[in-house]
Amino acid sequence: MDTAERTLIDPTHFREVMGHYPTGVAVVTGVVDGEPVGMVVGTFSSVSMDPPLVAFMPQVGSRTWDRLTLAPALCVNVLAHDQLELCRTMAVPRPDKFDGVDWVPSTLGAPVLTDAVAHVHCRQQSVVEAGDHWIVLCAVEGMEVTRPATPLLFFQGGYGGFSPAGMAAKADAELITAVRLGDRARPQVERLASRLECEAAALVAISPDELTTAVSAYGGSATMVEPLGQRVPLIPPIGEAYVAGAAPEVVERWLAKVGPNEPGLVECYRSRLAAVAERGVALSMVGPGARSDYQRLHEALAEYASGELTPARERAVRTVLAQTRHFFDELDVLPDETYDVGAVVVPVHGPDGRVAMVLRITQLPAGMPGRVVNGWIEELRTAAGCVERDLVGRGAQQASDYRDWWEADFPM
Ligand SMILES: Cc1cc2nc3c(=O)[nH]c(=O)nc-3n(C[C@H](O)[C@H](O)[C@H](O)COP(=O)(O)O)c2cc1C
Repeated sequence: MDTAERTLIDPTHFREVMGHYPTGVAVVTGVVDGEPVGMVVGTFSSVSMDPPLVAFMPQVGSRTWDRLTLAPALCVNVLAHDQLELCRTMAVPRPDKFDGVDWVPSTLGAPVLTDAVAHVHCRQQSVVEAGDHWIVLCAVEGMEVTRPATPLLFFQGGYGGFSPAGMAAKADAELITAVRLGDRARPQVERLASRLECEAAALVAISPDELTTAVSAYGGSATMVEPLGQRVPLIPPIGEAYVAGAAPEVVERWLAKVGPNEPGLVECYRSRLAAVAERGVALSMVGPGARSDYQRLHEALAEYASGELTPARERAVRTVLAQTRHFFDELDVLPDETYDVGAVVVPVHGPDGRVAMVLRITQLPAGMPGRVVNGWIEELRTAAGCVERDLVGRGAQQASDYRDWWEADFPM
């Protein structure tokens, strides 16, 4: 295209519009004359799977690229969300920028930067001139995910991280509001923990997708395993005691997370919700052979709560949850049978009749007769009744403020 045919786009406008398209941040590295060389690129892209090709676009006139192009092999290091300092170091036009940077040579000889998310080992195949940039096409000879963390992103001239949809980290303000409501249950939570010698907690919703542990207490030999403010996903089967008494939109949203390929399972959860709503309690059981599965469930929930989930890890957490649903299958507790109970959860209704929070007891003794388990359920129901009366009285305004805020902020 000659100059006369060109559409004139103001460079600032070009940058402004293109800045609305986020990119990852990678460092392309190589060794030239025995020295490591590297440059930050936001233009790294996958090109072809067969044959495996990737590309990036150095600026024409980049002195770093002029050197790097001499490297026999390259490594593309995909930076993680917590590698902003490394990015800044690598983006400056300085010869000593590898000073103090941790790296090891790849099998092809290019620098592999420590703690990057992924590494792509490649060699230049062709270089195409494209206006004021080069398009460098590289043949991939090896690649690996070294650290499955969330990547560093560049957007509108600033850096940020990634929040998977539906699992987005929420502002702390929501946690504070939830904790204030949960605090109404504190006397009952403390009483339950000391009477039953277990862990007791009140969990409050912070979004249509998450509950949080707003208050907890520990009695007997129970130890703290779930810190306050921990996010608990509303993904079936987790949260059924809350969802069973929630608005129909919340129920449908929860069921939708089962996945479109399992219509039978959706119906199974729907009837279970009806049973939980009718009985006013949800139980999870830990059979003797299921302790390690239960442990996996706890690890998955802790990983969820860490807030560093990538979509791939989110899918892994969901898979663990789906595999552990058998914990939640049992509803009838027979007085003379023995049970290993994982958790007992009862809803606490607000003045508007909707579930405002749930009370939960865990770390209960194993192998207990059903009549003891039924006693726990009664204790929990009594405690929930006390909290409900408190919400109608002193805490009523708080509960309805919370509900207004919740519905206003999370329209569904
Ligand atoms: C987030 C980010 C993305 C960048 N992307 C590119 C890119 O795709 N191509 C490029 O030539 N330079 C890019 N740069 C600039 C170079 O990393 C670096 O500043 C430059 O190579 C240093 O100047 P020099 O090449 O003249 O030595 C980027 C810088 C940052 C911070």
